[in-house]
Amino acid sequence: MKIVFATNNQHKLAEVRQILGEHFDVVGLNDIGCHEDIPETADTLEGNALQKVHYVKEHYHLDCFADDTGLEVTALNGAPGVHSARYAELFGKGDTHDSDANMNLLLKNLEEKNDRSARFRTVIALIYKGQEYLFEGICPGKILHERHGSEGFGYDPIFQPTGFDQSFAQMSAEEKNAISHRGRATQKLAEFLKSEK
Ligand code: IMP
Repeated sequence: MKIVFATNNQHKLAEVRQILGEHFDVVGLNDIGCHEDIPETADTLEGNALQKVHYVKEHYHLDCFADDTGLEVTALNGAPGVHSARYAELFGKGDTHDSDANMNLLLKNLEEKNDRSARFRTVIALIYKGQEYLFEGICPGKILHERHGSEGFGYDPIFQPTGFDQSFAQMSAEEKNAISHRGRATQKLAEFLKSEK
């Protein structure tokens, strides 16, 4: 069965293909000739994920899923959350996807706080046979005082998942995927799609 994953991130595509297995032909936006920047202007992860799948359904008439992820820090009332990719940019301290600037700002904003608990949350929206579904994956943890490790991307060097003594950036991709927010949400999506087949 062919299904579109509304992303051009090859790393995410490979990860999802591995979890969904050979029964699903997962194609990316490039594969369906979609080269536009799909708007992500909602103020929630759910809203953004739904915005992306509706865009693909409307313009390409294909079943589709899309994800959106945020890092939610307790002492900052859930920030950076839906703004995780452009946290520093919002405060005039860097460009979108400038991970270094994002981490610097987060560490600075936590300097005076005792509670360093946080969680990554991924929402996957799916449109399948005309119905809309949402799947959520959460990975709880804490924000470290400094960077550790060089693997991964984004906030990985300063996020340590609960039950582990390493940051995400000190783990292999396999170790991280097994416990990560995105891995968990994707597993739920996979279980649903497999049960529908
Ligand atoms: P996206 O929705 O997957 O594009 O994620 C939005 C932003 O959240 C990214 O630009 C990263 O800053 C951050 N992020 C998402 N997933 C991860 C992760 O697994 N590790 C570290 N940062 C992440």
